[in-house]
Amino acid sequence: MDKRKVYLDNNSTTPLDPRVLDVMFPFLKEKWGNPNNIHVWGREAREAVETARENIKRMINCRDGNVYFTSGGTESNNWALKGIAFANIDKGKHIITTKIEHKCVLNTCKWLEKQGFEVTYLNVDREGFIDFDELEDALRKDTILVSIMLANNEIGTLEPVREACELVKDKSNAYFHTDACQAIGKMEVDVESLGVDLMTISAHKFYGPKGIGALFIRNGVKIDPLLHGGGQEKNMRSGTENVAGIVGMGKAAELVMKELDADKEKLRRFQKMIIEEILEKVKRTHLNGPSDLEKRLPGNVNFSVEGVEGESIVMMLDDYGIAVSTGSACSSKQLIPSHVLMAIGLKPEVAHGSVRISAGRFNTDEDIAYFLEVFPGVISKLRSISPLWQG
Ligand SMILES: Cc1ncc(COP(=O)(O)O)c(C=O)c1O
Repeated sequence: MDKRKVYLDNNSTTPLDPRVLDVMFPFLKEKWGNPNNIHVWGREAREAVETARENIKRMINCRDGNVYFTSGGTESNNWALKGIAFANIDKGKHIITTKIEHKCVLNTCKWLEKQGFEVTYLNVDREGFIDFDELEDALRKDTILVSIMLANNEIGTLEPVREACELVKDKSNAYFHTDACQAIGKMEVDVESLGVDLMTISAHKFYGPKGIGALFIRNGVKIDPLLHGGGQEKNMRSGTENVAGIVGMGKAAELVMKELDADKEKLRRFQKMIIEEILEKVKRTHLNGPSDLEKRLPGNVNFSVEGVEGESIVMMLDDYGIAVSTGSACSSKQLIPSHVLMAIGLKPEVAHGSVRISAGRFNTDEDIAYFLEVFPGVISKLRSISPLWQG
C-alpha cells in the first residue's frame, strides 16, 4: 500500500488556503505600513484592514455592531467574558456557561471565580446538548452573561444557540456570547438570526492564518477592553494591527462566502462515509456526539474504540501518514480524559480510547478511501497487543 499524507485534523487547525497566502504576501513584503498613519503607506494598510473587516462582517451578516480584530479565539473568548464581567459588575456577578466549552472559556471562568464572580456550568446530555430547563433554572436577576458555544470542537455538537439566546433574552437581561470558532467555514453563521450579542471568530479554523481572530460585538453592549494602549480598534483593542493576518482572514471570509455550500456538502459526505463504514467494520466502536448529522458539525467524527488507547491510534495512524487527534492528553505520565467526553458521561477507560477525525476543504475522496482502508487494520493490530482488549 502506498503511503500517502492525509490530514484529517481540521478541527485543530485548517491548512492555509494558497489563495489566502497570495493576498497576505504583499502586506509582509512591500505594503508594510502601519494603518494608524495618515501617509500613503498607512492609508494603504488601513484600506486593506477595513476591506477585510467588511468581508468578515458580511460573512456573519453583521448589521448591528462591529467586528474587532484580536489575536485569535482565545483572546476573543477572554475578552468577551472578562470584558462583560467587569463592565457590568453593577448589575451582577453571575455567569452561565457549559461544561463542554473550550478550555479558554472554562479557564477564564475559573479565573473570574477567583475574582469574586459566580459561574454556573451547565450539564449536557449523552450527545453534548444543553437542557433548556436547566438553563432557565440557572438564570438569575444578577446573571450578566451566558456563554454557549455554537459547535463543539471535540464531538461536533451544534448547540441550539438561537433558541437558547431567545430564552435568555426572554427571561433575563443577560448578554449572550457564543464561541463560533469551529462553526465558521463549515456551516452558515448569521449573528442576526442567532440574536447573539457577542461572537468569537478564529481565522485558522477556516483556512486563514494563525494568530488572528475577531470578536463581534453588537451595538449597545457594555464591555471593557481587555488590552489597553494606543487606542486602536476604536479604543476597544489596542495594539498595532496584524495587517497581513487581517488581510488573510478577510480573504478567507470571502472564500467562505463563495465556497461554503460546496465545502459543506463535501464535509457532510465524508463524515457520513466515515461514520457508516467504521461503525460497520470495526466492532465495539461507538460514535461520540450527535448521531443526527444535521445536528453535528460537518466534517467532524469522534469515536470511542474499545480496548485501545487514543494516543496509540494517533501514533500508529501517523506512521501511515494520517493525522487525527485524541481526546486524552498525556500529561505528567497520567492520561487525562477530555472534559468533554467526561461531561457526556463516558467512563474514563472508554474516553481514553477516543479518536477525532475531522475533514476539511482540501480533503479528497482518495484521502477518505485511504483512511477507511487503513483504520480497521490499525485497530486490529493495536487490539492484538493491548492488555485492555478482551475480544
Ligand atoms: C471552540 C474553540 N474555541 C476557541 C479556540 C481557540 O482559538 P485560537 O486557537 O484561535 O486561540 C479553539 C481552538 O482550538 C476552539 O476549537
